[in-house]
Amino acid sequence: MERGTDMQKAAAILREGGLVAFPTETVYGLGANGLNPVAVARIFEVKKRPAFDPLILHVGSPEQAAELFLYPEDSRIKALTERFWPGPLTIVAPRKPIVPDIVTSGMPTVAVRMPAHPIALELIRTAGVPVAAPSANLFGRLSPTLPHHVQKQLTGVDYLLDGGKTQIGVESTIISLAGETATLLRPGFITLEQIREIIPVEMANANDAEDQPLAPGLLKSHYSPEKPLTIFESLEQDPGSHAGVIFLAPDPAHKNMKAHIIHLSCSGDLIEAAAHLFTALHEMENNPEVEEIFIQKVEEKGIGIAIMDRVRKAAYRHGK
Ligand code: TXA
Ligand code: MG
Repeated sequence: MERGTDMQKAAAILREGGLVAFPTETVYGLGANGLNPVAVARIFEVKKRPAFDPLILHVGSPEQAAELFLYPEDSRIKALTERFWPGPLTIVAPRKPIVPDIVTSGMPTVAVRMPAHPIALELIRTAGVPVAAPSANLFGRLSPTLPHHVQKQLTGVDYLLDGGKTQIGVESTIISLAGETATLLRPGFITLEQIREIIPVEMANANDAEDQPLAPGLLKSHYSPEKPLTIFESLEQDPGSHAGVIFLAPDPAHKNMKAHIIHLSCSGDLIEAAAHLFTALHEMENNPEVEEIFIQKVEEKGIGIAIMDRVRKAAYRHGK
């Protein structure tokens, strides 16, 4: 896959129906022209993503979002976009007919966000179309926070726009305005408390997820490394040289351990920890000496909720 910083080339590829991986402030996205169903179909093929899992459309302005939402004058949309866009908040709301069925998996709603990353914004504006983009990883696998993570997992991408490491490191918060009360579909960098300062919002009921495969953002297994992953609160003994241990913060006791160790933050800061979470999991996945990964639980407050959401889903298929 060609990798570089040629914006004109990337935008032309998008317009012509090709696939461009690009950085956002959260994770790398795998983009296609969101109004071209054939181009969007290629995203599903390259990601091996099931067709029931709908995509987010990325826009360059609230005005561009108004062309996709059925009721752009909804006061909740106005309030949320004024406060949080550009930024890591995705809004799900009824869609206009212009949005292709393949983008929404046939649902009457569409997910839209205006990213804050300058490269993402320039790409969307230069291409002149909304850009459909899931995270640029194989379905169910770790999300990419560095360009080489995209290269490791995907083939069939026409161009990779290099923007270095993504800053936030966990995916956007997703809010659904489909029903009468707004619901949180996926926790992210923007917290429930921050959103509640703007509009009332409820947690999506976890039981709903079982009956509604149409809200696949709530799948129990996701973001998984290719090695067993176990969550711990405190580690009683050194799991040894075939293990990788991800701690929140450094501790003198870690110095004597044989296990491969990564600290998510030098001070235990959760925002810094979120930024390094997927990068640390990728590093452990790539390290041939590591056969098993252990990760420390963090406090579920603020962005800690998004961190533990990703960690639990990453560990789920290993039954831990
Ligand atoms: O930060 C992000 O959101 C990143 C960057 C690239 O923007 N994108 C991302 O996309 O995480 P993806 O496809 O990996 O996750 C989007 C989630 C999926 O779980 C999908 O099920 C949900 O959004 N989704 C999309 N459209 C939806 C809709 N109409 N109703 C409910 N959920 C929807
Ligand atoms: Mg994803």
